[in-house]
Amino acid sequence: MQVYKFPYYFLGSADTKGVEEKSFVLRGDILWSAEPRRITTLENAYLVCLEGRSEGVFKELPREYAQLPLREHRGKLIIPGLTDLHVHAPQFAFRALGMDKPLLAWLEEKTFPEEGRYHDLAYAREAYTRFVEEVKRGPNTRLCVLATIHGPGSLLLMELLEESGLVSLVGKLSMDRNCPPYLMEENSEGALREWLDAYTQRRAQGGLANTGAILSPRFFPSCSEGSLKALAEIQREEGLPLQSHLSESRDEITWVRELCPQSPHYAGAYEDMGLLKGPTIMAHCVWPEEKEMDLLAQRGVHIAHCPQANMNLASGIAPVRQLLERGIPLGLGSDVAAGTETSIFRAMTDAIQVSKLRSLSFPQERPLSLEEAFYLGTAGGASFFNKLGTMGGRDFAPQKAGSFEQGWDLDALIIDDSSLVGGTTLPLLERLERVIYLSDDRHITEKYVRGKSILP
Ligand code: GUN
Ligand code: FE
Repeated sequence: MQVYKFPYYFLGSADTKGVEEKSFVLRGDILWSAEPRRITTLENAYLVCLEGRSEGVFKELPREYAQLPLREHRGKLIIPGLTDLHVHAPQFAFRALGMDKPLLAWLEEKTFPEEGRYHDLAYAREAYTRFVEEVKRGPNTRLCVLATIHGPGSLLLMELLEESGLVSLVGKLSMDRNCPPYLMEENSEGALREWLDAYTQRRAQGGLANTGAILSPRFFPSCSEGSLKALAEIQREEGLPLQSHLSESRDEITWVRELCPQSPHYAGAYEDMGLLKGPTIMAHCVWPEEKEMDLLAQRGVHIAHCPQANMNLASGIAPVRQLLERGIPLGLGSDVAAGTETSIFRAMTDAIQVSKLRSLSFPQERPLSLEEAFYLGTAGGASFFNKLGTMGGRDFAPQKAGSFEQGWDLDALIIDDSSLVGGTTLPLLERLERVIYLSDDRHITEKYVRGKSILP
């Protein structure tokens, strides 16, 4: 039998306090997923956390962990934290407005005017604080966030997210064409480098341990070819990840074809600018061409599937079954404010529902199962964090998360569904299904991120 590895934990000195707080055992009804087809369930079982990492799930508690503090959650569900792979923090302020418009009109009339306000740090602080509070309260533990073009506001958002205990990647947007004058950067590359320097300084001072930087060209139409090529160069130098939008609406795709007629398709336009080489998230991918999907699979680009946004702006229904079958890495995004809800429980439900509608027109494309949607919202999306650091840059080390495998970061939700009729008497999978479909933050009683409890 393995000997308990951290005897100094029992010394209880001030130095070991962090270790103590992040080393414990959770008992409850545990569900997790390590692959799309299966959710593993274990009733009345033990999840062991050592220094913020999972040691695995056990039906009987192994003796070497018997001395760790036991946090009793009998009768409650314990599941991995969820990852929002695509969310616009500044858009939280105008959720549920302008929902009768298609993408390009919605951007012009609603989004750009709101994002223009974030040069005002007092406004940014108020709006971003509300966004962070909402996410903290809900089921998401990790997020990839787009801010605005404003460096100071984007750094402030990073500070607020860090304080919350959530893990995030945050991007100052790059925009230097086809946008209103108040969002048009004169020197997009210079502004980006300035923000990255400020971020690096904060990290060197010991801040922002859970908050990384991600390059964020808004989308092809708002970035000049010069600025996209400069971004590719910065990515090569710094080893940073990158996020953007891809093939969301038909009008947008037509526009990209006009802007870049020499490229074979939308993803090819990014490729031709030297992008897609590092860890990349592309949101939407509603209308991909065959060859475009081949390229995405080849480059291992993560797609953030944003079903609610795609419904609200009537962009279409993304062919997730095709993406999955081609082995393209996939996660879920709330895409607030094109999506109204921040919760990735809601995105799981939406993803299942729209896939059923799509299969009415394309019967060969089987709808998503509950297991698949759960995987996408947990380990699927979080697998992006494991790609970090792969370019040898200055940012985050790779982090495995989104499941309870041994050695993975322990992000977990404790869920009390006892107030629901039938409550805890149902089989675990049915209890999980209900919690996902009802998407009620009040069911979440505790939330752990990298072994740290973050709810008050
Ligand atoms: N494409 C470019 N910018 C945006 C945005 O803010 N939201 C969505 N949904 N699509 C975009
Ligand atoms: Fe978006």
